Amino acid sequence: MDLVLVGLPGSGKTAAGRRLARRHDAAFVDLDEAIAAAAGRPIPAIFAAEGEAGFRARERAAVASLGPADPAPGLRRVVATGGGAPIDPRNRWLLYRGRRAAWLDGPAEVLAQRVRRSANPRPLFDGRDPIGRMRELAAARARFYAPALRVNGIIGVAGIVAALERHLDEPLPAGTTLLRAATPIGTYELGEGNAVAGVLAALAALEARRAIVVSEPRAWEVAGAAVADGLAAAGLPVERVLLPEGEPAKRLAVVEEAARELARLRAERRDPLVAIGGGALGDAAGFLAATWLRGVPLVHVPTTLVAQVDSSIGGKTAVDLPEGKNLVGAFHQPAAVVVDVRFLRTLPSRQLRAALGEAAKMAALGDERLFELLEEEGAAIAAGEARAFDDGALAEVVERCGWAKVEVVVDDEREAGRRIHLNLGHSLGHAIEVAAGYEGILHGEAVAYGLRAAARIGVAVGTTPPERAARIEALLDGLDLGRGPLPHPPDAVLAAIATDKKHAGGRLRWVLPTAAGVAVRSDVPDEAVAAAARSVLAGAAPEALR
Ligand SMILES: NC(=O)c1ccc[n+]([C@@H]2O[C@H](COP(=O)([O-])OP(=O)(O)OC[C@H]3O[C@@H](n4cnc5c(N)ncnc54)[C@H](O)[C@@H]3O)[C@@H](O)[C@H]2O)c1
Repeated sequence: MDLVLVGLPGSGKTAAGRRLARRHDAAFVDLDEAIAAAAGRPIPAIFAAEGEAGFRARERAAVASLGPADPAPGLRRVVATGGGAPIDPRNRWLLYRGRRAAWLDGPAEVLAQRVRRSANPRPLFDGRDPIGRMRELAAARARFYAPALRVNGIIGVAGIVAALERHLDEPLPAGTTLLRAATPIGTYELGEGNAVAGVLAALAALEARRAIVVSEPRAWEVAGAAVADGLAAAGLPVERVLLPEGEPAKRLAVVEEAARELARLRAERRDPLVAIGGGALGDAAGFLAATWLRGVPLVHVPTTLVAQVDSSIGGKTAVDLPEGKNLVGAFHQPAAVVVDVRFLRTLPSRQLRAALGEAAKMAALGDERLFELLEEEGAAIAAGEARAFDDGALAEVVERCGWAKVEVVVDDEREAGRRIHLNLGHSLGHAIEVAAGYEGILHGEAVAYGLRAAARIGVAVGTTPPERAARIEALLDGLDLGRGPLPHPPDAVLAAIATDKKHAGGRLRWVLPTAAGVAVRSDVPDEAVAAAARSVLAGAAPEALR
């Protein structure tokens, strides 16, 4: 078994790791030393010559060179990582899966003192107030360290070694948590095979005496039953409320029936609901949680890619009416969102691909790494290729999209400001869904057309540089999204946009791509919208517009 030590600079990873390895006759790897040796120069010189990006690339290579986790019992190897190594999702995928990980933690003031006294130069601290810098790093990195076993790092090397030794014989957990954060909109956790442990932790934090699982037949089959079994095995009584599969769950009649089921179960304020399913199930179960007894705690376990990257985060719950989608709803933030990417393995390719329309939108909002990742691996993810699951590509997409949404919502919970950026691609996307009567086209597929249209409108009104628009369209081509003509008459789509414009008081706010993000414009001429809409609906290339 490997033991991986993570933590801030100065937390004693190298000293404790070396001592522990020696005591157990295990190999010892100091990643920073390995990086310097491979580069033939010390780390400050790598930073000076190649910048932080160059160093991080070398760090990724060093982590990958650790090879597969060694499952044999006993301590075989101790790996001391650089403080920043777990920032990279792919590094965590390699460092945390199948290996024991420990986080040497301590107050920023103490760690800053140590860094100041150390002979070891640290480029990230160059010329800066060390305590302030350490606090910044602690806040920015806690979510990456949190999945590891937390050990006090300021009790001296012998104390740390003794603390680590107490855990060496414990069995490794069944699944892997890759990220955990306490946020103002609830706990957010992501991992692989982590659902049971994550839900148990969330329910324990809520002091729940039982779990009321709300699911639907397909999600129950692929995820809910196993989670319920795990909760029951841990001694928690489990009740089950099943809603219909898919969009039919989002009806007031269904919510009424489910609420009556809760009444029969005598569900109380302190009985959280655990919603296990895709976006439709989550929206309906969320609305139930928002309204039952005027609101009970909710734990989301999203099982589709749409739900993992988007709908489980942000607190929007709703049901549909014959007059329109999502017309009756409430904001109700979940106490916890537990994302387990393993559930995505059973998801049909069309669902994966469509959800990547939302992921492409998140990339276009300004996550350069996500953009590259989708360019390189999006097609494999969309096709459901095992490689994309096994090498952590899909988990990285889920993390980047999910965390970006967490940050936007924390900043602007009620859509008064920045949250509107998430509507990129949605103005036309929504109009297409309305024109289609929500039949035959998935939400993410419609968003992909909308994203193309936003890029074309952006070029026409001078907001989007043509190279950026071309890159967005090429990404969508690679994902095989938003291509080919749609059967909906352009006039029906434009009529839906006109209705949205009327509801918006005559000024529709268009979110349009810029060189590296988005801008919001309320002065987009109708002709530019019509031209872009007609061209994407016809499946025409952007050149046809010019
Ligand atoms: N609240 C929000 O912020 C928000 C954001 C985006 C979308 N939404 C809503 O989400 C809904 C769409 O979500 P969705 O795409 O997840 O649809 P969905 O919930 O209908 O799920 C799609 C299908 O996948 C099945 N499924 C679920 N998990 C599976 C798994 N692991 N393996 C195999 N099949 C599985 C479901 O049974 C269903 O048939 C829409 O109602 C939309 O309005 C809400």
